[in-house]
Amino acid sequence: MPDGNTLHPLVVFTPSGKRGRFPVGTPVLQAARALGVDLDSVCGGRGICSRCQITPAFGDFPKHGLTATDSALSEWNRVEARYKEKRGLREGRRLGCQAQVTGDIVIDVPAESQVHKQVVRKDADDRVIELDPSTKLFYVEVREPDMHDPSSDLERLIGALSEQWMLDDLVADLRIVQRLQPILREGKWCVTVAIHFGRNAARGRIVSLWPGYYEGTIYGAAFDIGSTTVACHLSDLRTGRTVASSGLMNPQIRFGEDLMSRVSYSMMNPEGAGQMTDAVREAINALLGQVAAQAMVPVEDILECTFVGNPIMHHLLLGIDPVELGGAPFALSAGEGMVFWAAEIGVTATHPDARVYTLPCIAGHVGADAAAVILAEEPYNAEEITLIVDVGTNAEIVLGNRDRLLACSSPTGPAFEGAQISCGQRAAPGAIERIRIDPETKEPRFKVIGCELWSDDPGFAKATAETGITGIAGSGIIEAIAEMRLADVIDIDGVVRGSLTTETDRIYAEGRTFSYLIHDGAQRIAVTQNDVRAIQLAKAALYAGCQLLMDEMGIEAVDRITLAGAFGAHISPLHAMVLGMIPDCAVENVRSAGNAAGTGARIALLNAGKRSEIERVVRDVEKIETALAPRFQDHFVGAMAVPHKSAPYPRLRTIARLPDTPPSPPPGSGEGGTGRRRRRARA
Ligand code: FES
Repeated sequence: MPDGNTLHPLVVFTPSGKRGRFPVGTPVLQAARALGVDLDSVCGGRGICSRCQITPAFGDFPKHGLTATDSALSEWNRVEARYKEKRGLREGRRLGCQAQVTGDIVIDVPAESQVHKQVVRKDADDRVIELDPSTKLFYVEVREPDMHDPSSDLERLIGALSEQWMLDDLVADLRIVQRLQPILREGKWCVTVAIHFGRNAARGRIVSLWPGYYEGTIYGAAFDIGSTTVACHLSDLRTGRTVASSGLMNPQIRFGEDLMSRVSYSMMNPEGAGQMTDAVREAINALLGQVAAQAMVPVEDILECTFVGNPIMHHLLLGIDPVELGGAPFALSAGEGMVFWAAEIGVTATHPDARVYTLPCIAGHVGADAAAVILAEEPYNAEEITLIVDVGTNAEIVLGNRDRLLACSSPTGPAFEGAQISCGQRAAPGAIERIRIDPETKEPRFKVIGCELWSDDPGFAKATAETGITGIAGSGIIEAIAEMRLADVIDIDGVVRGSLTTETDRIYAEGRTFSYLIHDGAQRIAVTQNDVRAIQLAKAALYAGCQLLMDEMGIEAVDRITLAGAFGAHISPLHAMVLGMIPDCAVENVRSAGNAAGTGARIALLNAGKRSEIERVVRDVEKIETALAPRFQDHFVGAMAVPHKSAPYPRLRTIARLPDTPPSPPPGSGEGGTGRRRRRARA
């Protein structure tokens, strides 16, 4: 007589390690569900979707305490065999809904069969996003109408979803009801339903329908709306993979370069806000078309969009006049995370039933982009105190750890992005992005975007012949000024030392001030005194914002610094510190996070739970208003020096020698250079 164990074989699932005994004949999918193993299914075990694929393992498994013979699973049945013949099944794979347990067995659930797949973030090597999107697909068979059971098609569909998927409390809008009858009949009472689970995960909303089993996949688009650029990433919501990315200049630029000039435009023109809203929505639709074309999918497959942006971008996208954000008390119309139809905000290059989620804004001056950076970097889970700086026209600064988080924004202006800089340009082939200056000879060498060689390497001229050397990118200007300081070309006050004209032709007079020549070619590329001033103003605003938060937190140093923003990714941490953009920190603890706001938008797209998480975190973030803080001005003045008037930067000084020569005499004082060559060594 068979013993109990033979009748109830042991099933071990890997990689989860979950195990249990089940009666002979239990489908693997059912066993997985009973144990809470993450095994996907859209068709509910009908052998249609192939999402439930598993890999059984046979042999001795001392670790699991079992031996699995090749009869531990039932023979291939008709459904499985037909599936293999028609669609193909990889060697060694079975359909979990068809294969039944007949003996002790180890079953591997491959990554692509897991619902909550781990999606590796390319921007941070060891970080993953758990895939759990808001919109999911379910296949159901609906009872046909019956004279004796006078229920509506919608009632029977909702009933089927409840019986077959245990989904209760579903709702459907009129637009779904309008399409329901022909779709049910076309699919012969079989239908694939897309359900969007909003803030209340238990209550789903039917957002789309396809007749029969929908073979395709569904996509989501994550948007980061910056004042200068709009970026979009298209992800497959089944796999979490980013399938296309694209960016456009924000067309609102024609109404004003920076945020305040756009608010002024709106104040002065009755139609202003509407024009800017139309412009950004047009760009969004164009980008959706671009990413869909890149991925070779129809825009109708895009079922969800997430958006992040600063408060003014956020309001303009939603069609809200940002006028209240132009001055104190900077009242948001609404700052919470919101869910609505894409069509409600004129986003139409999607499925007609696409849903939108906007991340919450932190305050009237700290937006959903800062919330997205927090979500991407998760300082709220860390012990160490992290300072996150999202460098842009308006810098967002976040400081804190799991106990307390503070945030502010600081008006850095567009200088870091190359605007207001005489030879500044956007990061494009031909733009200088790296530079080193010999402290003794004051001779520069540099690298341009699009060429791996340094300017003093053989072959550089040939390699750059096509692009030319066209200007200085944002990261280049930071390095240039930091290197000028390390080489003592500028003093602590940022004054270009005119006294050096006797030592090098690189420094030359322009009116009453001096400039430093980096490259003399078809285009003459130099850093002028005005350029240094513009960067000093920008970096002083950034530093003062950081210092304000540190004062509030009652700390003198931070454990880690993260430079975020598309441009932040290219900044050299050492040079940022020499310039005094950021406070002193061990250089190995300063890292670039790339476009963290965009990553935050992508996380919110791929994982619904993260939406509630960031909404919760944002409620507790303490907002600091830089414009109202009297100490901001004092910090700003001290931070105009390079790196700082009084902050000693002890960690920086262990790796870089800052010349401590006296400040230059004021221009026109008659005091000239000494003609002495100063030797400066750097670690
Ligand atoms: Fe759909 Fe197995 S659950 S094929």
